[in-house]
Amino acid sequence: MLLAIDPLKDVDAFHPVNVGKIMIGNFDFLPCTPAGVMELIKLSGIEVNGKECVVIGRSNIVGKPQAMLLLHANGTVTVCHSRTKNLSEVTKRADILVAAVGKANFVTADMVKEGAVVIDVGMNRLDGKLCGDVKFDEVSRIASAITPVPGGVGPMTIAMLMKNTLRACKIHNNL
Ligand SMILES: NC(=O)c1ccc[n+]([C@@H]2O[C@H](COP(=O)([O-])OP(=O)(O)OC[C@H]3O[C@@H](n4cnc5c(N)ncnc54)[C@H](OP(=O)(O)O)[C@@H]3O)[C@@H](O)[C@H]2O)c1
Repeated sequence: MLLAIDPLKDVDAFHPVNVGKIMIGNFDFLPCTPAGVMELIKLSGIEVNGKECVVIGRSNIVGKPQAMLLLHANGTVTVCHSRTKNLSEVTKRADILVAAVGKANFVTADMVKEGAVVIDVGMNRLDGKLCGDVKFDEVSRIASAITPVPGGVGPMTIAMLMKNTLRACKIHNNL
């Protein structure tokens, strides 16, 4: 199904051609959520170069491309998933921790290093309310920066989708 999409109209950047281009760092489009995370990091003046970056989640739409973009930004990247052993030992190393698990309040303060930057990609429903993967109340006390849910990564994803759509329009009209 994905192959039916013209890679130059693929504003989600899910087509294998675009996935490959992201891998080699020569891309037309970036996937919206990881791109939004990178934009948040950049606009907040946070340096990725040489930092320990840990991504929890290895999905094709978030975890894997997120890891690749952090790597392109010269982070030292570790990707965790459901088979990762001693998860909190790994997450506690992170200067920049990205949670893309899909489990409400999964990341607790004891999993986070003091002063870490914590990016919460999760969008979960708990008791009818939208919440992230990070237990915001306790983690926000030790993080140097943290994204809320709602109002963090979600709106950035939409902004990046608009950016990609504009870019696709320009490509197709030679603008
Ligand atoms: N804000 C936004 O715009 C936006 C955009 C996209 C997604 N999201 C949200 O982000 C979250 C993740 O989305 P997704 O599509 O990446 O989800 P997904 O495809 O379900 O992937 C979840 C990942 O979390 C890992 N995981 C599950 N349980 C774990 C555990 N106990 N310990 C460590 N890792 C664990 C899984 O590992 P395995 O690979 O081993 O199963 C998997 O790699 C969801 O809440 C989704 O709604 C938000």
